[in-house]
Amino acid sequence: RHKVIIDADPGVDDAAAIFMALASPELDVLGLSIVAGNVALRDTVANACKLVGLSGRRDVPVHAGAAGPLVREQVYGKYARIGAFDDNLVRPGDVTVSEEHAVHFIVRSAREAVRSGETITICAIGPLTNVALALIQHPDVARGIGQIVSMGGAFEALGHRTPWAEFNIYADPDAAEIVYRSGVPIVVMPLDMTFQALFTPEHFDRFRAGGAAGEALYNLFTTFDRSDVKRFGRPGGPIHDATTIAWLIRPQLFTSRKAFVGVQVTGFTKGYTYADFYQKMDREPNATVVTDVDEAGFIALLIERIARHGP
Ligand code: BDR
Ligand code: CA
Repeated sequence: RHKVIIDADPGVDDAAAIFMALASPELDVLGLSIVAGNVALRDTVANACKLVGLSGRRDVPVHAGAAGPLVREQVYGKYARIGAFDDNLVRPGDVTVSEEHAVHFIVRSAREAVRSGETITICAIGPLTNVALALIQHPDVARGIGQIVSMGGAFEALGHRTPWAEFNIYADPDAAEIVYRSGVPIVVMPLDMTFQALFTPEHFDRFRAGGAAGEALYNLFTTFDRSDVKRFGRPGGPIHDATTIAWLIRPQLFTSRKAFVGVQVTGFTKGYTYADFYQKMDREPNATVVTDVDEAGFIALLIERIARHGP
């Protein structure tokens, strides 16, 4: 059973990933560490508390972390108008944020894992600020982190937040570079792969089997249209963040390659990620890059896990 911290910036597709994880017996979710990203920190934290409340998993703490990127000026997601999930879409509950800072929570969890001869997995589905801060402040915690599964980056597909950059990396490129160079095994789940699995209204309908959580997810995905026929050539939209959870519980759905991965941190193209698939740089691979997903298998798995929140 993977011990997992979900580092997130909810966010509509973060909501799907969090609900999926909380319904998956393969994962022992230690807690959520929350970062600013899609929207400001106070909203990502409020949204996370609502999601945990709806899932009925009050044993899972929500920790607030970094309110902005390490170096660059702050940018929000393209759905920034979502803000705090509207009460009509996502019912409020009574889950409150923990007093412990998210970075401290990551550090403490990693050290506890080392003491008991284990490691934790960080499932990072927002900008990598919290994870980078933990690694900069306390480099010893790298030993307690078995892997960082990071939704982020774009290689041959290029970007969506800018023509060259994926949002999570664009929002804090310096943090991404620190995490990629940390020596912790990194699994990179880029747009190239997440763009392959497109969800349609028919799939969103099936989320409704998942009780109050499923209903909230249905409301979010049907309110904020994420389809882009011009780009994808067919109807439907990706649910990027949930692929990280699927990778942990059903890796056979994916194809991956090892590569040296890096980030452009300054200049006009900041946030641009590159993967040296053809060994042009003479560098040892630092990442497993997930290149392909079994679309039908991933969609079915997400729908099945959301349904577990139902009666
Ligand atoms: C990522 O950016 C955000 O919009 C999503 O929550 C996801 O984590 C996709 O590029
Ligand atoms: Ca996210």
